[in-house]
Amino acid sequence: MSAQSSLPSGMAYFYQTRKSTIQRSFFLSCFILLAALFFLYQTEVFQIRSSPEISAVNPTPTLTGPNDGIKTPLIRGSNDVALVAPKTRDENVRWMATFCKQFGCTPYIYTTDEIPEEDYLHPRTLKGHEAAAYLTYIVDHYDHLSPFTIFIHGKDEHWHNDAAGPKTSNVLLNLRFEAARAYGYVNLRCLAVPGCPDSLHPAVNQKTDLEYHQLVEDFPQIYYELFGESDAPSQVGHQCCGQFIVTRDRIRQRPRSDYERLLHWVGNTTRTDSYGIGWTLEKLWHIIFGMNAVHCPPVEQCRCDVYGWCGPNPSTSNEVLIPIR
Ligand SMILES: *[C@@H]1O[C@H](CO)[C@@H](O)[C@H](O)[C@H]1NC(C)=O
Repeated sequence: MSAQSSLPSGMAYFYQTRKSTIQRSFFLSCFILLAALFFLYQTEVFQIRSSPEISAVNPTPTLTGPNDGIKTPLIRGSNDVALVAPKTRDENVRWMATFCKQFGCTPYIYTTDEIPEEDYLHPRTLKGHEAAAYLTYIVDHYDHLSPFTIFIHGKDEHWHNDAAGPKTSNVLLNLRFEAARAYGYVNLRCLAVPGCPDSLHPAVNQKTDLEYHQLVEDFPQIYYELFGESDAPSQVGHQCCGQFIVTRDRIRQRPRSDYERLLHWVGNTTRTDSYGIGWTLEKLWHIIFGMNAVHCPPVEQCRCDVYGWCGPNPSTSNEVLIPIR
């Protein structure tokens, strides 16, 4: 016999009502709590979605742990991004170590002088400028690449950069990894000139374009030597300057042997000098990493995707630029 049923019926009713009131307020509290949590979650997601602009002081928090960049990550670890750069004796690359501590990356710096500098990695050849460093890195790390690799020149400051000013560190702090994840390969410079729409036959020739014109004449043969394919594109266009970010998956879309063949060519070709080798590879990186032979995204959309510089498009009065996710 329970205590309740021994009570007068009025009292029993009172206790039962009280019990269901407690139950009701318990469920109500739970509901309010859940609603509050849901609201907070929504707000946070909304904030992430509605503010693609990333300030230099608050770099894109894009990665969690070791991943393929598939989820939207929150913390970036040093193993998530490799920073690969060549270095000559007169270039100061000390910024890279400091930068990587803040940004979350690991620098791989290759000495490119005849007499190698201590404490730096050695490329397989000294020919072809950055091409030797970039390809050596890929060949040596093919089986254990970071989710993202950024290939840059060693100096922190040069005209090759465009968005966020001439300093590579500022450029990288503003870089949207969402763009790299979505496109697989993203050039760091968005401006179309030089390089677009046609880098083999530019509208305005630089002195070097004339000096190295033989390479354009021989382009189909060179293309065959590099890719083992005889259908060389008749036009090649790309944004300038050989600095880009590539995902691990995109690098691995080619077998390691492709990169070994490219590196072998860089180290052993007798077609041209070291500058000509670098000049040739610079026209091909985007093709190596799976983009169309003419890869010239509109500069405004590029800046929006890659640096979060969005909003109304100044070139087309009514279009609002939205960054890629
Ligand atoms: C150049 O060719 C030699 C001989 O085939 C080879 O041992 C060497 O690795 C090549 N250089 C590069 C950078 O691949």
